[in-house]
Amino acid sequence: MLRTHTCGELTEQHVGKEVILYGWVDTIRDHGSVFFMDLRDRYGKTQIIAGSKEFSGKPLKSEDCVRVKGKVEFRPKGTENPKITTGNIEIHITEILEHNPCEPLPFEVTKSLETNEELRMKYRYLDLRNPAVQKNLFVRHHVYQIIRKSFDRHGFIEVETPILTKSTPEGARDYLVPSRVSPGEFYALPQSPQLFKQILMVSGFDRYFQIAKCFRDEDLRADRQPEFTQLDVEMSFLDEADLFSIIEQTCKAIWKETVGVDLAPFTRLTYQEAMTRFGSDKPDLRFGLEFGDASAIVKNCEFKVFKEAVAKENGAVLGICVPKAEASRKDIDSLTEFVKGEGALGLAYFKVEMGKLDSPIAKFIDEATQKALIDFFKASHGDLLLFIADDRKKAQKVLGALRLQVSKWKNLVKPGTFHFSWVMDFPLFQWNEEGQRWDSEHHPFTCPNLEDWKKYKPTGELGKIRSRAYDLVLNGNEIASGSIRIHSRQLQKEIFDTIGLSEEDINVRFAFLLKAFEFGAPPHGGIALGIDRVLTILLGLDSIREVIAFPKNQKAADLMTDAPSVVHEKQLRETGIKLR
Ligand code: AMO
Ligand code: AMP
Repeated sequence: MLRTHTCGELTEQHVGKEVILYGWVDTIRDHGSVFFMDLRDRYGKTQIIAGSKEFSGKPLKSEDCVRVKGKVEFRPKGTENPKITTGNIEIHITEILEHNPCEPLPFEVTKSLETNEELRMKYRYLDLRNPAVQKNLFVRHHVYQIIRKSFDRHGFIEVETPILTKSTPEGARDYLVPSRVSPGEFYALPQSPQLFKQILMVSGFDRYFQIAKCFRDEDLRADRQPEFTQLDVEMSFLDEADLFSIIEQTCKAIWKETVGVDLAPFTRLTYQEAMTRFGSDKPDLRFGLEFGDASAIVKNCEFKVFKEAVAKENGAVLGICVPKAEASRKDIDSLTEFVKGEGALGLAYFKVEMGKLDSPIAKFIDEATQKALIDFFKASHGDLLLFIADDRKKAQKVLGALRLQVSKWKNLVKPGTFHFSWVMDFPLFQWNEEGQRWDSEHHPFTCPNLEDWKKYKPTGELGKIRSRAYDLVLNGNEIASGSIRIHSRQLQKEIFDTIGLSEEDINVRFAFLLKAFEFGAPPHGGIALGIDRVLTILLGLDSIREVIAFPKNQKAADLMTDAPSVVHEKQLRETGIKLR
């Protein structure tokens, strides 16, 4: 037997036993006549003790990999460590059976989180030896098992879809792979399994899921990776409620079984509501600061900024009330700077003092209007009212950002709280100012709200058409997105026409899907959940890279393998490629 136990399992019950352990030297202390060391593996740490002679000829140091033989003994009274399973025992070793030394370390393994990230990524194998880093991957594994159990129980079949495939229209750039067999031709790595999962519905699989790798060549941020993992789901004969229920149950199981948190029922709001109440399609609902539309109240007041904004077409004065704000001059200045950075012309603020408004501009607001504003925002003494006057959409966007900023300033979020909400009824199209055309807001297979489609398609008011797309939002992050799909060939063609995809474009890109729809496609829909994002939030981490074993940096590079890298001329030749 290579080892009799792991480094995390021996207790007082084993005292007197001869054991063999394998592990890495965590710490080593030389007390002259004796050595102490902690041996570490993924299960825990065990204290090892030996007289110096057993170590002669074998100078042990941190991160050496060793195999030791010895006897389990009680630790001397007063030296126990109740915090760990093995805290009452130690091993008195008789022999070092194997010793594979470690080169000088670039950083201390168990303190890798304090090291700069570039170095951690270059030596990711050492970084991943740190229990604090390993923990995230163990949780990830656990989450995968919960997902598989939950979806299996609900009758879903896990199907793998190709990696070497054709472009999927998710809106990012494709990663291309040249074909050697057909020079000049390329595969695209999937931005998602979207087209295949719809095809699986046409084939009658009815309930599909996959833990799927997706590839998108886009600008990276803290919550984005060029390759990431989705829990990808598709169902036939469903409506939104069926799908929401399965996703909710799965999320609840994940939170309960990994962090012991009972999630509250998920809230639901429409896109329109989310925008008017919180100025965002992914509102953070862990705190209030809901918007009030003060336009009607201030439309006749003396303050020109307000009056003129309301007088404009689509103009509005929107505000929030910050309870017990205790804002200093400096706080106000930094909030004003913040909104200007977001593109606002200014920030109007009023402190509520004994039923009146106090601010350099309060003199322009008559007493009745002041009272009406205080009533409208249910404000009381000590509160702060903040207003943005602008085009309504812009005011929503800026105030939405300000709302988040205020929540940070006033610490409105209790750490360890989770708020899930479904955002529904997204617009079907969005106007592309640069291209002067309508684009799909989600992807072009999203089913419109059919009443809206009938009403506004003929009038050309495309911006008013709602879709049957939905997002799942967690603490202000979009963690999942999906839709009920179009399953009629005719409607699908009309949508393509509307976004200006030519017959030729369509044929080149997804003729196979449209063809499949001609063979009795069932009504279907689905969703994809960003697993990396979910884990990042679940574990309260700042970066998506912490939950991925081998992540890429901001330049989409893997510092450990040094990918991407130059290839041999021969490989280029074989694939018929000449570099520009
Ligand atoms: P979408 O493109 O919205 O939808 O992606 C779904 C979810 O995947 C996560 N995600 C990412 N995570 C990390 N890095 C990225 N670069 C990245 N891009 C997306 C997000 C997002 O909510 N096929 C559709 C789903 C469907 O309609 O069923 C799709 O891929 O959490
Ligand atoms: P001004 O008339 O530009 O001196 O602005 C008077 C006050 O109104 C200042 O506190 C500005 O920050 C604020 N303000 C200016 N423009 C806006 C706006 N669009 N929305 C809200 N407040 C504004």
